[in-house]
This record gives sequence, C-alpha cells and structure tokens, in this order.
Amino acid sequence: MKKKHTNTRALIAYVTKSGVTRENASVIAGVLRDKYGLKVDLVDLRKTSSLSLAKYKNVIVGSGVRMGKVYKGAWKFLEKNDFKGKKVVLFLSCLEAGEPDSYDHAIKKYIQNTLTKYLQVKPLAAEAFGGRMKILGFTIKDNRNVEKVKAWAEELGKKLGK
Ligand SMILES: Cc1cc2nc3c(=O)[nH]c(=O)nc-3n(C[C@H](O)[C@H](O)[C@H](O)COP(=O)(O)O)c2cc1C
Repeated sequence: MKKKHTNTRALIAYVTKSGVTRENASVIAGVLRDKYGLKVDLVDLRKTSSLSLAKYKNVIVGSGVRMGKVYKGAWKFLEKNDFKGKKVVLFLSCLEAGEPDSYDHAIKKYIQNTLTKYLQVKPLAAEAFGGRMKILGFTIKDNRNVEKVKAWAEELGKKLGK
C-alpha cells in the first residue's frame, strides 16, 4: 500500500486588509511548493468560517498590523485552535517591521508580546516583513521586501521538510 505523506502538508492561514500579507503568503507557498515539494493550502481567514487543522502538521499564520495592533482574526485563530504536536510558524507584514529603526520593536510588540501569547506551543520560526500603506488609492509608504520573504521561506522549508 502506498504510504501517505500527510505529515508534510502545510497550511498558510492569513489575515490581510490591504493585501500584503496575502502576497507574502503566496511567495512563501511558492517556495515551499517549488523548492521543497510540500503541499500547501492557502486560506484567507476572513473568508473562512470553519477550518479543521487535523490534516496539517505545519501551520503558518500571517497577519498585518493597523493602529498598533495585530489583526484580531489572527490572534483569535491562535487562541481558539489546539496546535499541540504541530509546527507553528508566524509572520507579520507591517510598516514598522520594514524600517531598520523599528524592526526590533515590531518583533517584540507584535510577535513576542502579542501573537506568541495566544499560542500554547513555541513557534518554530517567526518573522516580520515590511508593508505597504495606501490612502485613497495612493501608496504613501511601501517598504516591502520580497527577496527577504523568499530567503526566509527557503530557510523555513528546510525545517518543515524534515
Ligand atoms: C489605517 C492604517 C493603520 C496602520 N497602522 C500601522 C501601525 O500601527 N504599525 C505599522 O507598522 N503599520 C501600520 N499600518 C501599515 C500596515 O501594516 C500595512 O498596510 C500592511 O501592509 C498591512 O498588512 P496587510 O496589507 O496584509 O493588510 C497601517 C495601515 C493603515 C491603512
């Protein structure tokens, strides 16, 4: 009988309001699929009412930040699910993380002091990337760094592929 490789299936569950976290989720999914042959499902948490984590060994959770707060849908997702026995990975997209002067602050405030507080397990990896802010359709600040997202996903693939 053929052995099922369900243990390497990954979920990327994200919450986005202006699209950057979705873009980052797609970049990460692309690397994990193309370079590591992982099966990856992308789920927009604001468009999904119920989601079973039973088939996922690897769960990657992404969120944006507004007004000094990680999106509620992301921390609620961490709070309400049981991640025991799973590899959990966190990432953020926000302007503060895209600036060298405020990067450390963003990691501390949004990842260490917020997201990980809702998680019963220690995350396998956590990272914060830049964001893009538009007002009335005009981009007023964009400090995204797709190369950083790709490089991080490549390192992540090594840990998840095992
Ligand atoms: C109303 C508003 C408030 C924001 N507040 C913050 C903030 O407090 N800190 C920050 O780093 N970025 C802030 N941003 C920038 C967002 O983090 C950025 O738009 C990011 O791309 C959001 O992720 P998303 O595109 O996945 O929604 C704000 C953007 C908007 C539109």
